[in-house]
Amino acid sequence: MSPTESLAWKDLQAHAYYMSQSHISTLFKENPERFNQLNFSQDELLLDLSKQLITEDTLDLLLKLAKDRQLSNWIEKLYSGEHVNHSENRPALHTALRTPENSSLLIQGNNIIKEVHQNLKRLETIVSRIHSGQWRGFTGHSINTVVNIGVGGSDLGPLMACKALAESQPKELQNINVHFVSSMDGSQLAEILNTLNPARTLFVIASKSFTTIDTLANAITAKEWLKKASNAASEDILISRHFVGVSANPNKMTEWGIPESNQLEFWDWTGGRYSMWSTIGLPIALKLGTQGFKELLAGAHAMDQHFRQAPFEKNLPVLLAMVGIWNINFLNINAHAILPYDGRLSHIPAYLEQLEMESNGKSVTREGQITDYKTCPILWGEVGTNAQHAFYQLLHQGTEVVMCDFIVSARRYHDTENPDLQHQHQLNLANCLAQSRILALGDSVVEDSDKAPVYKRYKGNQPCTTLMLDELTPFTFGQLIALYEHKVFVQSVIWGINPFDQWGVELGKREATTLLDTLTPTGSRDAFDSSTCGLLKQIAKKASN
Ligand code: F6P
Repeated sequence: MSPTESLAWKDLQAHAYYMSQSHISTLFKENPERFNQLNFSQDELLLDLSKQLITEDTLDLLLKLAKDRQLSNWIEKLYSGEHVNHSENRPALHTALRTPENSSLLIQGNNIIKEVHQNLKRLETIVSRIHSGQWRGFTGHSINTVVNIGVGGSDLGPLMACKALAESQPKELQNINVHFVSSMDGSQLAEILNTLNPARTLFVIASKSFTTIDTLANAITAKEWLKKASNAASEDILISRHFVGVSANPNKMTEWGIPESNQLEFWDWTGGRYSMWSTIGLPIALKLGTQGFKELLAGAHAMDQHFRQAPFEKNLPVLLAMVGIWNINFLNINAHAILPYDGRLSHIPAYLEQLEMESNGKSVTREGQITDYKTCPILWGEVGTNAQHAFYQLLHQGTEVVMCDFIVSARRYHDTENPDLQHQHQLNLANCLAQSRILALGDSVVEDSDKAPVYKRYKGNQPCTTLMLDELTPFTFGQLIALYEHKVFVQSVIWGINPFDQWGVELGKREATTLLDTLTPTGSRDAFDSSTCGLLKQIAKKASN
């Protein structure tokens, strides 16, 4: 059944008609208890929904819709390993990746929690050999630089986490540098190769499929660079000392030449964009140590437990998701800005772009029907204080309604002796609060604003959510990312779509293979649309000049 046929959907439409006559500033004036009623917490994470265009009645209706859509059943299907990814006929078990060792989950007779922890131990062994200096390069020197070669889910999660949690890196590990290379054109590799010492560099080839051309092309460039630098070393020695593979496809790793001892596996039931908790998290463990990586997993597990057990009225992922549904499907908002007020979270927008848009950027339901309602909005973002000097003009005075997520830590630098940095944190907090306040309440926050010329007015009513961590640690970061993962799942249930496949990325890969042939000197450049043919001819002309 389409969600639009449920009674709760119809009630929400009527409620939205009434609510859209209102303004968030009015809701605050009418109810001094608003924050108390509309903030929710779990462990060290607070979710403030009071700057949304909602009331408690809105939440009641939204939770009715969630019940109508059998959300509890779907949550159980997810956790118990049912084939929720129906188009690829497999489960989506990222929650298993952060389940403690003393639990069990049988999938086709195998206790996968045991397998997860066996894998984690293999990862720990590799990490400890690198950290202790036992892992030696072709000259016998230890490794001090790791380059992760991967793209999409095999890049964005570890990259984001390494940046976010760099301050949690133990002192004794600070001699290890971790770099990330993803772009197919080789730009990032070209930029760093000159700065690296080949004898002390380890490449991690991270690819779930181990067939992604972007990653394999970068891996070959890295291998050839090493070969040149090492002169006489054999390819086998170079690969075994300088390459680790992380993949769900061990055969392909072996074909590439990676010995079994250098292979870390994970499973096809781990979606690429849900994989940073698996051995794909190797760079995180190398940066933070395995203890830090385990704290990250523990934070995510705490959120998993909360999502599975908390009643919907107090369930952070459910509430965050349902307020999103309200904005998208009832207030017709199609844009979502992710605004971390923390330079360490600079990669969270890119990570969420993949998580949300690759998961829920769909228009066909599980039953094969075209949706007659909106699904995932356009999502983008930037560190909030930088974005203030770039696109906030549009947020404040443009014609688009944009829902905004403000992400911030209450505490930072409290254990440093540096008053200047402490002051910068206060400045950052003040900006975070000021911006969400004006975006939601408009210029009603200042006196006599109605006397200002129209071009100086701020209409407000941009719905804002604030996610406040007590402090950014591996644990709270794990909570935060798992919160978003579950939010995406809840929305997919409401929309009746599969958030775990990504068929929309396939055709482009095939077409690029066809076009690659045409770029050879003898390739035919006439078999395409006139734009493509014209551009191919221009490339050929310029390449031969
Ligand atoms: O093309 C999209 C995609 O398949 C993503 O879903 C995935 O995260 C990325 O490519 C990388 O894939 P792999 O880890 O198999 O190299």
